[in-house]
Amino acid sequence: MTDRIRTDIAHNARVWNYWLGGKDNYPVDRAVGDQVTSFHPGIGEVARADRAFLGRVVTRLAGEGTRQFLDIGTGLPTADNTHEVAQRVAPDARIVYVDNDPIVLTHARALLTSAPEGVTEYVDADAHDPEKILAAAGEVLDLGRPVAVLMLGILNFVLDTDEARGIVRTLMAAVPSGSHLVLTHPTLEPELGGEGNEAAMAFWNENATPPITARTREEFTSFFEGLDLLAPGVVSCSRWGAPEAAAVAQFGAVGRKP
Ligand SMILES: C[S@@+](CC[C@H](N)C(=O)[O-])C[C@H]1O[C@@H](n2cnc3c(N)ncnc32)[C@H](O)[C@@H]1O
Repeated sequence: MTDRIRTDIAHNARVWNYWLGGKDNYPVDRAVGDQVTSFHPGIGEVARADRAFLGRVVTRLAGEGTRQFLDIGTGLPTADNTHEVAQRVAPDARIVYVDNDPIVLTHARALLTSAPEGVTEYVDADAHDPEKILAAAGEVLDLGRPVAVLMLGILNFVLDTDEARGIVRTLMAAVPSGSHLVLTHPTLEPELGGEGNEAAMAFWNENATPPITARTREEFTSFFEGLDLLAPGVVSCSRWGAPEAAAVAQFGAVGRKP
């Protein structure tokens, strides 16, 4: 498995880990991470705001009764992983993590530290294959009961917007009423100060993997078609549940399946 790990090109999971202050990254990740920061100085703040959004949303959903979480594009283990946040509220919560980066797989043991009352599982799969994800998740989660589907900072790696919408539709069609979709996504929208992302993403796409894209407010909102957006709707992820926070160039929203 480790022969899949490339140290000659920056990988998103490792650069994200670098921006979050983690140690699971290589010189190439730190070099590209620093270059991206020179184009978009707020990128470290985006990463931290995204994790804080995860904490607020998972705490709230678990507090309101959600007991099953499907976290696609998990990233490397860090402080307050989804199962730790959920099981702090509900020790019986069941969590399935999904990522396709080989280094995340090698660190997955740190994600499999469930409270005895609950379960955590890790699936090595690609977001472009939602059927495979659902088949694996169905081994652990009861897909007849509500599931919170988290895709934080990952639909930006599905470059075709129609395909990304199709992935979301397939996932949300497989879970019942009362399930939630939780998304974050980078944007170039000036309302969130996203202009700096343009040069940063162009640099990323020439020097790192996988290739990334930004989306407009309208495109981001379209992922929630057929779902009821929870207040405050589509906002900077830093401001969801924290209205006083400064905006970052990353949308966040939560939708409930009616
Ligand atoms: C920006 S990080 C976000 C990590 C975490 N969700 C968070 O919000 O902190 C994106 C993660 O998505 C993973 N990823 C990218 N493309 C993927 C794909 N096609 N299938 C599965 N995972 C993917 C990367 O390996 C990385 O761990």
